[in-house]
Amino acid sequence: MSILKKHSTLEKNATLLLLASLAVVTVGGIVEIAPLFYLQNTIEKVEGMRPYSPLELAGRNIYIREGCYLCHSQMIRPFRDEVERYGHYSLAAESMYDHSFQWGSKRTGPDLARVGDRYSNEWHVQHLSNPRDVVPESVMPRYAFLKDTDLKINDVAMDLKANVDVGVPYSQEMIDNAEADLKAQADPDADTKGLLARYPKAKVGDFDGDGKRLTEMDALVAYLQMLGTLVDFSTYDDASGYR
Ligand code: HEC
Repeated sequence: MSILKKHSTLEKNATLLLLASLAVVTVGGIVEIAPLFYLQNTIEKVEGMRPYSPLELAGRNIYIREGCYLCHSQMIRPFRDEVERYGHYSLAAESMYDHSFQWGSKRTGPDLARVGDRYSNEWHVQHLSNPRDVVPESVMPRYAFLKDTDLKINDVAMDLKANVDVGVPYSQEMIDNAEADLKAQADPDADTKGLLARYPKAKVGDFDGDGKRLTEMDALVAYLQMLGTLVDFSTYDDASGYR
């Protein structure tokens, strides 16, 4: 029987075809997925990674709500042009506390994985309020209303708890202090010892420039300013040998 004949037997028998397809997909799936469980750079623990502070998490929720991911990726690929433009390529560990991840699939605007510390808070507020004020040719929409919208804070402890349910290691102490930590991070005069012990490297400040109000702009800028700043790449041992 020629190979074509054999194949026609397969094509004429629905059950046989289904079973054979299943076998092929299973082998393909295992070959593709199994290595991810032991390849060093997909499972390594990286120093510096910590869960988001309550204010950063609130900002992240606004980022998702406003659909920023439709125009911005958060994944720097290991290609020279990307690394030279955006910085060290993204590590798997840098998304380990992301639910859901924000890798994105479209770049109408630049990648934001390492935008933290690149601009001042004032620049971000001005840019988000009206992008054309700072980048005349920008096609990004305005988000000025964030500055006039009070940040909803009474559900932040619940948000931490929901993240615990999907595996983020927030402690009971972090949950108990969630609301206080959120307020402290946006207040330059607050006692931030507890906050910084719980969330090392958290940036403290009056992010939106309006000290009297805690707005959605505060939270979003706090989130943008921490993106890509947790891992210290001068101490990161790059096993891939890429750089
Ligand atoms: C319609 C597409 C679009 C959407 C939606 C969008 N942006 Fe942008 N964004 C751009 C473009 C284009 C640029 C580049 C021009 C500029 O800087 O304004 C940009 C630039 C930026 C920059 C500066 C990045 C850099 O490295 O210079 C930041 C930060 C930013 N966007 C944040 C956001 C946030 C936060 C949101 C959601 C609230 C958002 N963007 C939504 C298109 C978009």
